[in-house]
Amino acid sequence: MKGLILSGGKGTRLYPLTYTRAKQLVPVANKPVLIRVLESIRDAGVTEIGIVVGHTAPEIKETVGDGSAWGVNVTYIPQASPDGLAHAVKISQDFLGDESFVMFLGDNVIQGGISPLIRDFDKNDWNSQIVLKQVADPRAYGVAELRPDGSIARLIEKPANPPSNYALVGIYMFDANIFEAVNAIKPSARGELEITDAIQWLIDHGYRVYPHIHEGWWIDTGKPIDMLDANSYVLDELTPSIAADAVIENSEIDARVTVQPRARIVNSTVHGPAIIGEDCVIENSYIGPFTSIYHHTTIRNCEIVRSIVLEHSSLIDIQTMIRDSLIGRKVTIRHNDQRPTGLKLNLADNSTLSI
Ligand code: DAU
Repeated sequence: MKGLILSGGKGTRLYPLTYTRAKQLVPVANKPVLIRVLESIRDAGVTEIGIVVGHTAPEIKETVGDGSAWGVNVTYIPQASPDGLAHAVKISQDFLGDESFVMFLGDNVIQGGISPLIRDFDKNDWNSQIVLKQVADPRAYGVAELRPDGSIARLIEKPANPPSNYALVGIYMFDANIFEAVNAIKPSARGELEITDAIQWLIDHGYRVYPHIHEGWWIDTGKPIDMLDANSYVLDELTPSIAADAVIENSEIDARVTVQPRARIVNSTVHGPAIIGEDCVIENSYIGPFTSIYHHTTIRNCEIVRSIVLEHSSLIDIQTMIRDSLIGRKVTIRHNDQRPTGLKLNLADNSTLSI
């Protein structure tokens, strides 16, 4: 069994964060989503992993390297343009050979591991297994219609009128018959080779496609609100720890807080679940629940809750509580007493500021 992670694509819905960074590298609870995906494939016992990469290949390679830091062997598969999930499978045929594989979209975060799924696929003679989750509104996803025997009858990509509430979670298992399918289908109306069309081709040609219904939480981290939700879920399940070389002075840190190496927390209160990253400085501040502060960030005289702040940023002397915010890398926000008063902004394209 091999693993295939899809980490190409554009990430437009996460602008402006993804102007400068691959969306799969945005961290949830201080760990990039892509690394969470890699770890869950490894934890299911699969160590030969291909990663499909697009224009953000350099930063993905810099973060993941050859995979040895996570005990896996990574092969990069370049995709010239994001021509669809089935196209990504097509260009991975040399790497995958005749083996069965698990494909995981590099921007999905799910509760629990994928071992049960791999066990199910191993012990049945199915040609494909797809993970489904019942959601209130499945219109933004691939949607499945099931037969009475539990197998898949039909898949539709982002339907206006969904035939069921079963959304396709971005995790799929295939045997080598999928290559015949991805080579047979034509691009969809949006110009992509859709994996839903390839799976439909398998069904229509008599192959056996079964679902695995996921009962835990699942987040497709497409939009900022999804990132904050994923961050809350993961922080809630994190086992807290305080690094031995972290400095905590005159501060109240509750039991659900993780403090990473060399962080300094002075005259502050941190209420978990929360995580303070490596080399951060938190002074005279309140860090509230569901907040992740990534490494080398300084927060002084501020209050912040349910937010993600990325690395090398500074939040200084802000007099209003910051909440439900996603703040990028090397961002500076500071209070200014100079006259005339007023907001002085230097925001990137597609930024959002709620005053
Ligand atoms: O998240 C689940 C959904 O993912 C499914 O319900 C849909 O059926 C499936 O089509 C997919 O929809 P998205 O619109 O969310 O896919 P997105 O374009 O965001 O791409 C998913 C991942 O695959 C992302 O990490 C980027 C990567 N990708 C995407 C394309 C189109 C590639 O590596 N190459 C590509 O050509």
